[in-house]
Amino acid sequence: MRIILVGYGVVGKGVTTILSKRYNERVRDGFNPKIVAIADIDGAVINPRGLSPEKLEAIKQRGYPISGDPDFGHPGMKALDVIEQVEAEVIVEVTPVNIKTAEPALSHITHAFRTGKHVVTTNKGPLALAMPALTELAEYNNVYLRFSGTVGGGTPMLEFAKRCLAGDRILGIKGILNGTTNYILSEMSQNRVAFQDALANAQKLGYAEREPSMDIDGFDTACKTVILANWILNQKITLKDIDRTGIRNVTLENLDEAAKRGNTIKLIGSIDDKSKPTVKPIEIPKNSPLCVSGVLNAVTFQTEFAAEQTLIGRGAGGIETAGAVLRDLLDIRHKLASKLLT
Ligand SMILES: NC(=O)c1ccc[n+]([C@@H]2O[C@H](COP(=O)([O-])OP(=O)(O)OC[C@H]3O[C@@H](n4cnc5c(N)ncnc54)[C@H](OP(=O)(O)O)[C@@H]3O)[C@@H](O)[C@H]2O)c1
Repeated sequence: MRIILVGYGVVGKGVTTILSKRYNERVRDGFNPKIVAIADIDGAVINPRGLSPEKLEAIKQRGYPISGDPDFGHPGMKALDVIEQVEAEVIVEVTPVNIKTAEPALSHITHAFRTGKHVVTTNKGPLALAMPALTELAEYNNVYLRFSGTVGGGTPMLEFAKRCLAGDRILGIKGILNGTTNYILSEMSQNRVAFQDALANAQKLGYAEREPSMDIDGFDTACKTVILANWILNQKITLKDIDRTGIRNVTLENLDEAAKRGNTIKLIGSIDDKSKPTVKPIEIPKNSPLCVSGVLNAVTFQTEFAAEQTLIGRGAGGIETAGAVLRDLLDIRHKLASKLLT
């Protein structure tokens, strides 16, 4: 499997680390991944025969810009040209999220489809804005689109619902899908820290961006809710369909009141087949399995036969998310192998 990596930040570096390890392991199930190109904002490194683990390590050590590599560097080469010109089976798209235009990822993904390449992405932007169209376009071009790392980071929430609950019917989904807001609300309720101070702590610890709106205004949770709705409940929705409220107005008094009822307040993304999908702070019982603390994520699937099933795990992290990319690559490999058999 020849792979073009587009974006070489925290997740991109995690992907090269994990795949380098795989090169050195015995090839399992015929899965033999090779990174043939890495495209960053300033250029690319390309070796059609595959960049060796030693070369991948040298690229990481050498640092910015990666296109300065003396053997395989292509300064100034754009990711779109790399996708067009380099032969590969899969594009791993890990550029920064953009929920206004979904670019540059949207163009990378559609270009990959048009050139017959499968796509694995951890980027929520294109899915939040255009998931119904993208899944249709992938199908039309006879390629796979996988995005396990977009929801739950390394925790396989999408696969759990799709595979482990296959045969059952999922009636609704509720989730704490954003670690930053969960950290802030946990600090507020457990340590009585006011919202602004809890946010400042989250920023100090690197959990929150300097511009925190994506998290605290609920956009990130809304993007993930869109992905769950499309992928698990087959609802053809995008970000504009979500009724969204963030956590800016949650006060210590609100949390005290909730505590008197044995509850706390969490930012919950919620979807079912009866009501409009929502993201808002709501009260949940402190003893609910969904009620996780700190930066943890949790999602509860309400099912017809198995009642409630809750999955808990770390929602983000470079290496965890890179692990989700590997899971998606294996899934594509498995799908391609079974196609060959039929
Ligand atoms: N980090 C996590 O824990 C995590 C978890 C789940 C999902 N995600 C998602 O995964 C994606 C990657 O996250 P990250 O943390 O790795 O972000 P990051 O560290 O900011 O890395 C993004 C990389 O993409 C590069 N880039 C920007 N524009 C580009 C373009 N036009 N062509 C090629 N490369 C371009 C950036 O280059 P410059 O730095 O030079 O701009 C940077 O190297 C994001 O969409 C994020 O939301 C991340």
